[in-house]
Amino acid sequence: MEKALVLKDITKRFPLVLANDRISLDLYWGEVLALVGENGAGKSTLMKIVYGLQPPDRGEMWVDGRPYRPKSPMDAIRAGIGMVHQHFMLVEPFTVLENLVLGLEPGSPLHLDLDAARRKAQALMDRLGFQVPLDERVENLPVGVQQRVEILKALYREARILILDEPTAVLTPQEAEELFRFLRAYVAQGNAAIFISHKLKEVLEVSDRITVIRDGRVVGTVPKEGTTLEALARMMVGREVVLRVEKAPARPGETVLEVEGLAAPPRLKGVSFRVRAGEIVGVAGVEGNGQTELVEALAGLRPHQGVVRFLGQPLPPSARKVRALGVSHIPEDRLARGLVLDFSVKENAILGDQQERPFRGFLGFLDDGAMEAHARRLVESFDVRPRSTALSARRFSGGNQQKIVVGRELLRGPKLLIAAQPTRGVDVGAIEFIHRALVEARDRGLAVLLVSADLNEILALSDRILVMYEGRVVGEVAPEEATEARLGLLMAGVTP
Ligand SMILES: Nc1ncnc2c1ncn2[C@@H]1O[C@H](COP(=O)(O)OP(=O)(O)OP(=O)(O)O)[C@@H](O)[C@H]1O
Ligand SMILES: [Mg+2]
Repeated sequence: MEKALVLKDITKRFPLVLANDRISLDLYWGEVLALVGENGAGKSTLMKIVYGLQPPDRGEMWVDGRPYRPKSPMDAIRAGIGMVHQHFMLVEPFTVLENLVLGLEPGSPLHLDLDAARRKAQALMDRLGFQVPLDERVENLPVGVQQRVEILKALYREARILILDEPTAVLTPQEAEELFRFLRAYVAQGNAAIFISHKLKEVLEVSDRITVIRDGRVVGTVPKEGTTLEALARMMVGREVVLRVEKAPARPGETVLEVEGLAAPPRLKGVSFRVRAGEIVGVAGVEGNGQTELVEALAGLRPHQGVVRFLGQPLPPSARKVRALGVSHIPEDRLARGLVLDFSVKENAILGDQQERPFRGFLGFLDDGAMEAHARRLVESFDVRPRSTALSARRFSGGNQQKIVVGRELLRGPKLLIAAQPTRGVDVGAIEFIHRALVEARDRGLAVLLVSADLNEILALSDRILVMYEGRVVGEVAPEEATEARLGLLMAGVTP
């Protein structure tokens, strides 16, 4: 088979880490190659180099047998390489069609031939078997559809090598299945793809070969056949990973959160439930069925109707007050709500608690010593890599950013934790760690409301499972009775 892309000895150093250390790999036409590795292993860095977003310090590349030295993504596009990023890069107020043509004709936005573009886009979608509404503004589209737009954009530019950096982190299982069908069809037509994911089950499903990276180096490449989840996890992390969570039965105490007829526009129509101290209540459901509204209403971030009581008292309608009472919140979108990217870890570690002791010191000034000690504890106990408290959040890999948020919310010793997608984008080793931290906090009496699109996560952690559909709770299932099939039916709105 011919090689689509060859990387030889790619090396990239950042101030604190050697992100890529002499990485060599081959990608063949007709295959999906998965790239896996722990958070911070260097996957996104390598792909940004291939896509011309940053130069390597050393190393060489070839595309289709020709030397390839991109100076910008324009060069990558010209060489037939497309990339779907870990975080979307679409221009939200523009329509899909505008996003497709944007940037393609430098300096001539007035001369865009939108009719020709529409014909070309339609022909592509027909060939690939998926549709997106070309005249809709991107901001009005669900994430799964936005992602199809990203892919369509790459293909519109005639990408024959497609790089997907954690494309499924925000997709529903159904959307992920669609994506995989597309990818298989795409490579069957003679193209090639690199697929990055922390969901090892998906990796084994969609890829032909798997390259594992650890600490910036290639550990090995294995064929899909004969490779197991456990073996892959071990290669990634360098030790055995416990993929199941060990936990004793919950011993719930007093009612911490009491919700009655809670509704919040646009999608939360009225839910009632309780969460007690020492239990994890999971909320399962296809994303977009009111979970976001539920979480934001409880965190004091969204106006709502209905009754919410925290330890018997009405919850104040202010995020700051809710927080001060002892409610922690892991937001589903860490970039929008969880972190200030230009702040250091030290600052991010007290975000929302800056008015509180011990951080608010003499005369109301922030106490630097207390902040530093706290941030140090966070990076050490939550294994944030690199272990810096001074680095800005922007400079951490996606999964390590998530660990900073989770660590901050747990370390403040809350009574209630509202956790939305707590392990999104996090590697298997870190998932094991976060899951254990959640169970330990539960055993110490924390009440946890866990909202996750990941059924495995819900099944692994929950003491009780609520299923949401169209803005309501349509069922409650005990974990021992919760099969994927049973939950799946409820999630689709089929009630017994
Ligand atoms: N602009 C930067 N400045 C400093 N360090 C950086 C920068 N970009 C990345 N790094 C560091 O390089 C290392 C590799 O990061 P990278 O984003 O490639 O990891 P990753 O494998 O994609 O991880 P994840 O699975 O969490 O997305 C990390 O330690 C990260 O902190
Ligand atoms: Mg990454």
